[in-house]
Amino acid sequence: MKLIGNVLIVCAVLAGMVASAFAADGNYLPDLSAGTVRPASPDAALKKDAVCTRCHDESEAMPILSIYQTEHGVRGDGRTPTCQSCHGESEKHLHGDPNVKGRAKPDVIFNKHTFPMSEATERAGVCLTCHKGSARSHWEGSQHQANGLACNDCHKVHQPVDKARDKKTQRDVCFTCHKEQRADTHKASTHPLDTSKMACSDCHNPHGSTGPKLMKKNSVNETCWSCHAEKRGPFLWEHQPVSEDCTNCHTPHGSNIKPLLKNRPPMLCDDCHDGPHNSQAPYGAGMAGNQGTTVTNPLTNANNASSSAAGRACMNCHVMVHGSNSPAGALLHR
Ligand code: HEC
Ligand code: HEC
Ligand code: HEC
Ligand code: HEC
Ligand code: HEC
Ligand code: HEC
Ligand code: HEC
Ligand code: HEC
Ligand code: HEC
Ligand code: HEC
Repeated sequence: MKLIGNVLIVCAVLAGMVASAFAADGNYLPDLSAGTVRPASPDAALKKDAVCTRCHDESEAMPILSIYQTEHGVRGDGRTPTCQSCHGESEKHLHGDPNVKGRAKPDVIFNKHTFPMSEATERAGVCLTCHKGSARSHWEGSQHQANGLACNDCHKVHQPVDKARDKKTQRDVCFTCHKEQRADTHKASTHPLDTSKMACSDCHNPHGSTGPKLMKKNSVNETCWSCHAEKRGPFLWEHQPVSEDCTNCHTPHGSNIKPLLKNRPPMLCDDCHDGPHNSQAPYGAGMAGNQGTTVTNPLTNANNASSSAAGRACMNCHVMVHGSNSPAGALLHR
């Protein structure tokens, strides 16, 4: 570690790194576009940081000073954290502890290197002093909080680009822990997660939610309807499992049965419909397994070769599987 004892040198180093952006009146112009390096105007926060940056500088293995290229480095913003807002005052780390041989640890440590890592509640606690509420109202008791995650398990605050908040890279952050979902997104039918058009956070709020499975909305269906509005209805004739939960038939992350189906029809339907129509009606018998027989569609009086219908099976007649608005659509066939 290179020791720089003078705040002016730190400023000079930073000034060399940055492309200055001052308005005509000399005020800092906040430019929040990714990768923009912010000018380090020697304001209060930076002066305060000097108690730490005289030792922790750009020579560290992990880029410490690149925090000034992030939202946490907006020097004109009075709410901007100093090193000590997150790592604690760390008096003993700075001035020594007679009871500790060598350098005492700072108050809050986010990763295990030289010193042991702080508890998750403590690590998340410092972030929440400023970021409580809104999207994080349900952090307490959320599946991630309850399983010992802290904010920095997903967010890297010392890096110019936070992978968790970039749609192109977010999934990689999640996949470090969620391998099953990674496998799912490689199946034949998926949401466009692999192409960066969608991110996990389009459906989930990783900070906690009032819905099941960290759903962004209050329920699975509310979440699905936010994009697939046409499936919301209201329908004259609802199909009960659709109104209940889309995942009765669909799997959200990926399936080898298109489109995102849990099972192949007619088996998909047979899970719930094994009644007289399926087992006894002539067309039902054809659909339910005897794929070689020809069945007459009593709805249209047309002859269907059931083998060619096998792929869509029940939906060849019951086309309106999500619900029907036709006055005569009680059987979801129109
Ligand atoms: C006099 C030099 C000095 C000052 C001033 C200083 N540190 Fe340190 N700090 C160290 C040393 C030495 C280590 C041990 C690990 C290393 O070599 O990087 C360390 C470790 C750390 C670690 C843990 C990293 C790890 O490897 O485990 C953090 C976090 C940290 N310091 C934060 C701060 C903060 C915040 C301040 C200001 C309040 C500060 N330090 C001030 C010298 C200093
Ligand atoms: C917004 C909160 C925040 C601020 C402000 C902050 N840090 Fe950190 N610091 C973290 C987190 C979180 C980590 C863990 C690595 C990461 O997530 O980027 C960390 C890691 C470190 C480390 C250890 C490296 C490691 O791998 O764990 C040092 C040393 C450090 N910070 C020093 C500083 C210094 C010096 C400043 C002031 C210039 C500072 N930090 C400002 C949150 C903060
Ligand atoms: C002293 C207050 C303070 C602390 C402590 C703090 N932040 Fe921030 N944070 C801010 C401010 C101010 C901004 C920039 C303004 C904004 O976007 O709301 C910001 C921005 C962010 C953003 C980007 C927000 C966006 O909308 O793009 C993330 C992510 C973030 N902080 C995460 C963290 C994490 C993780 C920690 C703990 C390691 C932390 N913050 C600690 C004040 C703080
Ligand atoms: C499991 C991963 C994960 C954890 C843990 C996590 N975040 Fe996030 N965070 C994300 C993702 C993903 C986004 C982007 C969400 C989006 O684009 O809608 C985000 C966005 C943010 C933002 C900017 C947008 C907003 O909601 O205001 C802030 C600030 C933030 N997180 C703070 C925190 C804090 C503070 C904690 C700890 C209490 C935390 N995060 C814990 C994944 C996480
Ligand atoms: C289209 C919406 C949607 C998207 C996008 C999405 N999920 Fe999900 N996720 C769900 C639904 C709905 C459930 C609950 C039903 C289920 O488990 O099949 C769920 C469940 C989960 C579960 C819990 C699984 C279990 O067995 O309990 C994890 C973990 C998960 N998702 C992670 C992710 C990750 C990681 C991503 C990004 C790669 C992601 N999800 C993207 C909708 C989505
Ligand atoms: C550091 C590891 C880690 C990371 C990173 C992570 N998670 Fe998780 N996640 C967990 C753990 C642990 C659980 C709880 C046990 C479980 O259900 O697997 C969990 C649970 C979940 C659940 C299921 C909640 C339930 O009710 O069962 C969802 C959904 C989820 N995570 C989504 C995400 C998303 C989206 C991301 C990325 C933004 C993400 N996770 C990043 C560790 C992680
Ligand atoms: C953020 C928007 C969004 C949300 C939320 C969403 N979807 Fe999608 N969905 C899409 C997009 C985009 C496509 C791809 C459309 C295309 O390729 O033409 C898609 C495609 C689909 C498909 C067809 C897949 C195929 O192979 O053709 C199904 C089925 C589906 N979504 C079900 C769901 C379910 C169930 C939910 C709730 C768990 C959900 N979606 C939530 C955006 C979303
Ligand atoms: C009873 C089973 C079932 C339920 C429940 C269900 N679907 Fe479907 N869904 C299907 C079938 C079967 C297909 C394929 C239709 C076809 O090939 O004609 C499909 C196709 C889709 C498609 C792609 C084709 C299209 O019509 O746009 C989307 C998107 C979709 N479903 C969304 C949803 C949403 C959102 C929900 C919850 C509101 C839902 N589904 C509930 C069975 C179901
Ligand atoms: C999760 C269980 C479930 C699945 C899977 C399911 N259904 Fe249904 N379906 C129901 C329920 C419950 C009703 C309402 C029955 C009632 O009102 O008596 C219903 C009603 C119907 C009706 C209207 C006839 C009536 O008696 O009201 C048709 C037609 C139908 N389903 C066809 C299908 C087809 C085709 C599939 C496969 C794509 C399918 N269903 C998958 C549960 C299911
Ligand atoms: C060739 C067209 C056709 C096919 C294929 C078909 N159905 Fe039907 N279905 C009908 C007609 C017509 C009726 C109304 C006559 C009746 O009640 O027998 C009906 C009635 C129903 C009903 C409501 C009455 C009852 O018997 O419960 C359900 C549920 C149903 N079908 C489910 C299915 C399922 C599941 C499949 C696939 C295994 C399927 N249907 C395949 C034409 C078809």
